[in-house]
Amino acid sequence: GKPLVVAIDGPSGTGKSSVSRETALRLHAAYLDTGAMYRAVTWHCLDTGVDLADAAAIENACEEVDLAISTNPDDQKVSVGGRDVTEAIREPGISKAVSAVATTLGARAELIRRQKQTTADSGRRIVAEGRDITTVVAPGAEVRILLTASEEPRLRRRGLQLGGTQSAEALKEQVLARDAKDSAVVNFQEAADGVFTVDSSHLDFEETVDAVLAVIRRAT
Ligand code: C5P
Repeated sequence: GKPLVVAIDGPSGTGKSSVSRETALRLHAAYLDTGAMYRAVTWHCLDTGVDLADAAAIENACEEVDLAISTNPDDQKVSVGGRDVTEAIREPGISKAVSAVATTLGARAELIRRQKQTTADSGRRIVAEGRDITTVVAPGAEVRILLTASEEPRLRRRGLQLGGTQSAEALKEQVLARDAKDSAVVNFQEAADGVFTVDSSHLDFEETVDAVLAVIRRAT
């Protein structure tokens, strides 16, 4: 089909990743999870002993990392230096450390450069999701959506994702701490001009996918 970029941003716990992936499947499009790239670089830094307080070292690691991410929505494989890190990047230790990479501007610049190649510059059909896709990575995307949800459903979904292994207080602390750190460099809480908001607070998974597909149909 014709090239199409669908950009979806939002915080965690809105169903962003699963909804974006399902949307890509329905559109027969590719899928890019940019958060997985920040997570993979973080995994690489921890694996190679890069000091996460050293911005220059993080930037350097980011420029040199051999990072491969599949854009097949049916097979979300991430590897670093040929090692499969698909599962490892979901560990709580990575979620806790990832903002150090995300707030290092030189590291962001490098990942944004790679993400632009995969999205806007690729001439493909692709759904890309993250925190700055609608504003920085693909501001010219045919469709731009901010997926939001109020705090209570976000915390509940995030808790389910983690298998209910954490107390409600610990979970809230972690989610809000990561949002606060991430917000220092990207505004993913408010829709930029021309960005459609889909609020998933009162929608289940199927309803959220339908709402996103409806926005895409209207915009294309
Ligand atoms: O979406 P996910 O929770 O996997 O993202 C992990 C982290 O990657 C976020 O907490 C944020 O620090 C960073 N991120 C970002 N910009 C993006 C996507 C993710 O800064 N476009």
